[in-house]
Amino acid sequence: MRETFTKGMARNIYYGGAVFFFLVLIGLTVDTVRSLPKTDNSQNLTEVVAAGKRVWEVNNCIGCHTLLGEGAYFAPELGNVYTRFGESTEAIKGWIMSRPVDGVPGRRSMPQFNLTEEELEAVAQFLKYVDGVKTARDWPPNIQG
Ligand code: HEC
Repeated sequence: MRETFTKGMARNIYYGGAVFFFLVLIGLTVDTVRSLPKTDNSQNLTEVVAAGKRVWEVNNCIGCHTLLGEGAYFAPELGNVYTRFGESTEAIKGWIMSRPVDGVPGRRSMPQFNLTEEELEAVAQFLKYVDGVKTARDWPPNIQG
């Protein structure tokens, strides 16, 4: 083996490495784009679900809650609230309607948002849809969120 490390060798490592990792990047991108439709629950994306996402945004639910780990840590994770509430959108709606509840020691209640029946149904359907997304390692880790 030669003792010297030439400019030519350095250049080959530089370009060779760049090409190699660029190909790895392309491969992983293709793999991600291919596998997303199997996990993103897009077959259940309806107009109502989209309307529910707008209700979710307009009322800044994420300002208190996390959804699949993203958001604020003030209130419970809602990525699996549909499962937690016995797979019932009616239970979710009833729960949102029944707030606020005072007098639980050490616990603050969620405010009342005065959503219309349509908005309530939409946001409940949105939460049901999110619950159907297959996340990495089945996040959130347990039924409590
Ligand atoms: C100001 C903060 C705040 C905002 C904004 C907020 N929530 Fe909450 N939410 C809470 C708190 C606190 C709790 C749990 C305490 C309680 O009320 O019993 C909760 C609980 C919930 C639960 C029940 C979760 C469980 O596992 O018990 C649902 C469903 C829910 N919120 C939906 C929503 C939706 C939908 C929105 C937007 C329209 C929203 N929240 C906006 C504070 C908030």
